[in-house]
Amino acid sequence: MVCIRQATIDDLLAMQACNLLCLPENYQMKYYFYHILSWPQLLYVAEDYGGRIVGYVLAKMEEETSECHGHITSLAVLRTHRKLGLATKLMTAAQNAMEQVFGAEYVSLHVRRSNRAAFNLYTETLGYKIHDIEAKYYADGEDAYDMRKQLKGKQLQHQHQHQHQHHHHHHGGCCSGDAKDKKELREAKDPKEPKAAAAEGKHHHHHHAGCCSGDAKDSNELKEAKDSKEAKVAAAK
Ligand SMILES: CC(C)(COP(=O)(O)OP(=O)(O)OC[C@H]1O[C@@H](n2cnc3c(N)ncnc32)[C@H](O)[C@@H]1OP(=O)(O)O)[C@@H](O)C(=O)NCCC(=O)NCCS
Repeated sequence: MVCIRQATIDDLLAMQACNLLCLPENYQMKYYFYHILSWPQLLYVAEDYGGRIVGYVLAKMEEETSECHGHITSLAVLRTHRKLGLATKLMTAAQNAMEQVFGAEYVSLHVRRSNRAAFNLYTETLGYKIHDIEAKYYADGEDAYDMRKQLKGKQLQHQHQHQHQHHHHHHGGCCSGDAKDKKELREAKDPKEPKAAAAEGKHHHHHHAGCCSGDAKDSNELKEAKDSKEAKVAAAK
């Protein structure tokens, strides 16, 4: 038996290990922390009976755009556990939370043109449509499909709030309430890099760090953090 549950901080290393085994797009541990601290409702894992993490989905909300939407940063299932419906369940869990907790209008993701398994999963099983093609999106020069799936957005959020009135204050919103906290978190993440923060939203997809992912800004900051570390190591030599 494999169960799907929300990820905790204790799962992050296993999620990263699964990502390293399954995908060429990899992230530093702080990027996983950034996700779980910002949108804990949007990270799910598939755990087998022995407590092993065999799949994960890492997702987030995009807050700088006019329309509130979710984004799938990364998704993978270990080879030994594929074609069992796990990716479908992980994706459905993240999409439902985007809709119900954050009132997302739609969810976006990137996928390699050559990734048949994932493309079929998104189009046939989950109902995503091709929104755009991003030429040479990935580091090796492969194009990405920029895909989207419409969600019920505010409409559903309101219903949800009526049903659980005591709840919605704590959720905060994408897109609403705790934008200030998010900004603080971003600043806390990289206080020494005002330039990267000021350039927010300006570079798009130049750095190709994302899976699936598309957050050029975050990738860029990570890249810069990594580069500055490398520079220090070099300087120390
Ligand atoms: C893509 C991936 C996450 C799918 O995981 P999974 O748990 O096997 O997917 P599911 O069992 O939920 O499959 C659902 C649907 O996806 C499609 N699909 C999955 N694997 C497929 C394959 N090898 N070939 C063609 N279609 C496939 C099918 O339409 C399938 O529906 P069906 O079982 O009714 O035929 C998995 O193959 C993986 O981890 N791949 C490497 C990492 C990756 O590519 N991640 C996505 C990056 S954008």
